[in-house]
Amino acid sequence: MDNKGKIKKLIDLRNEAKLGGGQKRIDKQHEQGKLTARERIEMLLDDGSFEELDMFVTHRCSNFGLEKTKYKGDGVVTGHGTIDGRIVYVFAQDFTIWGGSLSETMAQKICKVMDLAMKVGAPVIGVNDSGGARIQEGVNSLAGYAEIFERNILASGVIPQISAIFGPCAGGAVYSPALTDFIMMTENTSYMFVTGPKVVKTVTGENISVEDLGGANVHASKSGVSHFKVENEEEGILLIRKLLSYLPQNNLEEPPLVETSDPIDRMEDSLNELVPDNPNLPYDIKDVIHLMVDDGEFLEVHRNYAKNIVVGFSRFDGQSVGIVANQPSFLAGVLDCNASRKAARFVRFCDAFNIPILTLVDVPGFLPGSGQEYAGIINEGAKLMFAFGEATVPKVTITLRKSYGGAHDVMSCKQLRGDFNYAWPSAQIAVMGAKGAIEVLEGRNVAKIEDETERLEYILKKTDEYEEAFANPYQAASYGYIDDVIEPRNTRFRIIRALQSLQTKRVSNPMKKHSNIPL
Ligand code: HXC
Repeated sequence: MDNKGKIKKLIDLRNEAKLGGGQKRIDKQHEQGKLTARERIEMLLDDGSFEELDMFVTHRCSNFGLEKTKYKGDGVVTGHGTIDGRIVYVFAQDFTIWGGSLSETMAQKICKVMDLAMKVGAPVIGVNDSGGARIQEGVNSLAGYAEIFERNILASGVIPQISAIFGPCAGGAVYSPALTDFIMMTENTSYMFVTGPKVVKTVTGENISVEDLGGANVHASKSGVSHFKVENEEEGILLIRKLLSYLPQNNLEEPPLVETSDPIDRMEDSLNELVPDNPNLPYDIKDVIHLMVDDGEFLEVHRNYAKNIVVGFSRFDGQSVGIVANQPSFLAGVLDCNASRKAARFVRFCDAFNIPILTLVDVPGFLPGSGQEYAGIINEGAKLMFAFGEATVPKVTITLRKSYGGAHDVMSCKQLRGDFNYAWPSAQIAVMGAKGAIEVLEGRNVAKIEDETERLEYILKKTDEYEEAFANPYQAASYGYIDDVIEPRNTRFRIIRALQSLQTKRVSNPMKKHSNIPL
């Protein structure tokens, strides 16, 4: 064959590989509202930036007659490209080839891009759409999964890892996404579970649909496994691009600075009016966030899970910041197990990737009761405390209103190495709210007063005294636990000033193999 012929052969082979499991299966994928692996990658990466690797890899299995059928690329498309000009490594399972099921060689392809990503310090994005372990390959497939898991673990905290679930993800296969930093699921076309409905029915007798067991809604709101729920793949892919814009390439880099025309000293008069005078009335903390951050942009993580705490990414003067904020409009912003765990993981992510943390505090305390105690609120709350206390990135805390008891300490207080702890004049920093405090302190005296009007007057008087003493930020400020009491409308400016002054912050924790966070 002459060179011309050889080149033609290459082109033919490439075209064959690009068809994956064939046009019929591609059509089926489309009928289900799903894109193919290559279409997903094309949409994700900057135009024309994709460099595919291992297009000619085929499986090496000869069980169950598998040797008779070989598809080029074998069930996963891998390579690298750019997003907003920055290198990322990608793999996308190809459902048209044996349902994207994982073979030994597929695992090797995935591991190759993960190793390259670690070498150069670039994020890895994995698109999952697979029937799990390739049954014909037996333990070789399980070994392949474990090779991937180990790499997920070692890459954790070094490079960002993002998992898109755009189809099935079941059995042990769920653990690779679970080991990554962010999971995103599409509504109606994706699911994740360790054990499918049929086995559930056999073992426990429970009748449950795929969607109710492990659909996007379940994992975005009930289990918290998924950080993002999207309507379709296009929305998911745009979200991945946006998410990456807040992140550095690796743990040794800073997140990219993004130019903004939003003035650093923009006053927001409405913030002065935002917190209701009545401390028991709710308001939406997301309004506060939108008013303060660059151009009102906030990428919320875990929007539908543990809504009593809000976490996500924004920018101040172009700099990425992770925001953790109690949400008074949901369960009064109380801390419970799920909220503590959600925020703890987010804080640790930010700390691992050099993203400063802004904490907005309005918390009445931890949710009381046997339900929470039995669910381990002691451990869960400790996780959040641990995460804040261990974090060495710049930490700015603003107390807007309530900051009571243990929750005050947990929410990035001064002694957990908060760098700048500011409070609004509406802040109330105390062991507990006035009502609870008066019940404990004055219970005996109150019981002695027989006349009801006198009793109420006495309670009111004592409540006033308590509020005068504690329901303000000045006692904490007098001890230096609050660095300054600030006017709400000026908060954006004060945060930016604080972050500017912390840019060269250098703090390291004592040398150790690793900490022992109460998991
Ligand atoms: C080999 C598989 C496969 C698998 C699907 N296929 N899953 N081949 N190993 N695990 C093949 C099918 O034979 C079919 O081939 C093609 O992929 C498409 O599958 P369909 O069943 O036609 O698609 P659909 O109806 O959409 O159903 C998708 C599915 C179903 C729900 C994922 O295929 C399924 O239940 N698969 C088995 C899932 C499973 O039990 N996996 C093992 C889990 S345990 P043809 O040639 O007809 O197109 C596991 C352990 C991992 O993964 C442990 C890690 C530690």
